[in-house]
Amino acid sequence: MKMIAPSVLSADFGNLRQSLEMINESSADWLHVDVMDGVFVPNISFGFPLMKPMRKYCTKPLDVHLMIVHPEKYVERFCDEGAYSVGFHLEAVDDPLPILDLIRKKGVRTCLTINPDIPVERLFPYLDKVDMVLVMSVFAGFGGQAFIPDSIDKIRTLRAEINRRQLATLIEVDGGVNVDNAASIYAAGADVLVAGHAVFKAANPIEAIRLIKQ
Ligand code: DX5
Ligand code: ZN
Repeated sequence: MKMIAPSVLSADFGNLRQSLEMINESSADWLHVDVMDGVFVPNISFGFPLMKPMRKYCTKPLDVHLMIVHPEKYVERFCDEGAYSVGFHLEAVDDPLPILDLIRKKGVRTCLTINPDIPVERLFPYLDKVDMVLVMSVFAGFGGQAFIPDSIDKIRTLRAEINRRQLATLIEVDGGVNVDNAASIYAAGADVLVAGHAVFKAANPIEAIRLIKQ
């Protein structure tokens, strides 16, 4: 499966509605929503107040990526605010299983994510317990960073394990994705590519979305 989830983090928030309408017109599959708390990552993005306008003006499913400590306190609220998928970081919690349950009980898709310094094998025990795993190909915290090439091996390793166990778990890749490297990331086994700068800073974002998906 080749899907793309543009990251609203790189959008012009002064013209959020227009950006969302552009996404609606495009071949984007989901809108990726990056929530940062300034504690888990050294940056603060936005939180609940933007969920309503995004839900209202964006016709694409909202793929929420929580870069926060204590996700157990907030996942249900993100579900109630209209998330299609809610993901949090494995390294932010002691035991992800009860938190995944909170999301699943809301009827929302689950995602577990890891930063580049976490071995991909740490996700293996959870592959049959989530809808998606998210491999960060930059350190979480900022848009516009360069893709870390080692991520390709992690994606291949994950793809092999998911196929070996005949699971339907999706692999999402986030950070430094662009028109030039997208094909090799899909080829390594990714299903969903997140792209912030490569979409929203492009002269023609709709075309950039189409080219990344190709
Ligand atoms: C980084 C975020 C990413 C970011 C990607 O912490 O999780 O989703 O918006 O931005 P680009 O595609 O510009 O690297
Ligand atoms: Zn993200």
